[in-house]
Amino acid sequence: KKVVLAYSGGLDTSAIIPWLKENYDCEVVAFAADVGQGDEELQGLHDKAIASGASECHIVDLKEEFVSEYIYPTITTGAVYEGEYLLGTSMARPVIAKAQVAIARKVGADALSHGCTGKGNDQVRFESTFAALAPDLQVVAPWREWDMVSREDLLAYLAERNIPTSASATKIYSRDANAWHISHEGGELEDPWQEPSKQVWTLTVDPEEAPDKAERVTLSFNEGKLTHVNDEALSPYNALVKLNTIAAAHGVGRIDIVENRLVGMKSRGCYETPGGTVMLKAYKALETMVLDKAALKYREQLALEFSHVMYDGRWFTALSESLLAGAATFAKKVTGDIVVKLYKGQATVTQRRSPNSLYSEDFATFGADDVYDQKHAEGFIRLFSLSSRIEALKKQQ
Ligand code: ARG
Ligand code: SIN
Repeated sequence: KKVVLAYSGGLDTSAIIPWLKENYDCEVVAFAADVGQGDEELQGLHDKAIASGASECHIVDLKEEFVSEYIYPTITTGAVYEGEYLLGTSMARPVIAKAQVAIARKVGADALSHGCTGKGNDQVRFESTFAALAPDLQVVAPWREWDMVSREDLLAYLAERNIPTSASATKIYSRDANAWHISHEGGELEDPWQEPSKQVWTLTVDPEEAPDKAERVTLSFNEGKLTHVNDEALSPYNALVKLNTIAAAHGVGRIDIVENRLVGMKSRGCYETPGGTVMLKAYKALETMVLDKAALKYREQLALEFSHVMYDGRWFTALSESLLAGAATFAKKVTGDIVVKLYKGQATVTQRRSPNSLYSEDFATFGADDVYDQKHAEGFIRLFSLSSRIEALKKQQ
């Protein structure tokens, strides 16, 4: 029997390797995805997995695929969960789980495993992807089976088996990082009345300590895809990396929220999404230039719908495919340049232009106009408000 485990090198998945071998009498193949979480997490991962008892360790570079095939399409829908969360962890799960299934096929595995707890969203996202892509493979979720509850338990479990680990007994926060964002949960954040301490934040400069001088950044889009940052042509992943660097220095992209998890409980989390915050703002500003009122209204409805599709792990579904196809037709018009001004945690759009712009100074100007006859407005308003007039007249009678 062979199991492919989504392995991070952290304490949890390090303990899962021997646990699977003992409880399922199987060979464990470790799989790790590079989604831009940084070299720190990836360094020495292969040797670590083998030292913990894995027979093989596959590290797959998903950085460009993650940005171009998951993040960009999601941006075209405008999705933001519960008005604030830019879905960083949610977007990474389907690309990771899909690559995990591919490894499972390659090595001829019978089962898939992950280190998500039984209380969160991530288990749903992983297993929904497994269900859609590999319904024949068994799923093992150790956190829902074993009776270990603390880091001390996991450390003792590894020590008993002489498996080396550099993990410590105390780790305050649960974090999840990728090219788009980093999330922080746990520790003092579990009390929603507690302000996050300075050590929560790892990616962005404290807005209070950000430069006193504003910086402007130009984003150029072609049919919904970001192609240039400050006139430099960049791959999707590299464009995001560059925006992250620029925006993080100005403390842009921090949020502190309470959200509704899919499994019913509320949780408090802090997130840092510097480049993503700028990108989404610029994208939406460009949409306002090229989509008319009715189209923009529908795109907003689509955003709400898709935010739940993405958060709930329903990427590989017919509904998701349909919403993405709808968003893609709007995205075709999203071509042009946006300038965003970054200053002490704020990102403000200050300039916009597009070859597809529906904005016309001739129409909007308050000066003399021959394209818009103000007399026509009278008839328009009379018909537009006719039902109100009829109802009011009836009441007067
Ligand atoms: N609450 C966020 C979400 O559900 C972040 C989850 C972070 N996951 C983690 N394994 N630390 O998308
Ligand atoms: C976990 O429980 O594994 C992380 C948090 C989440 O999935 O929401």
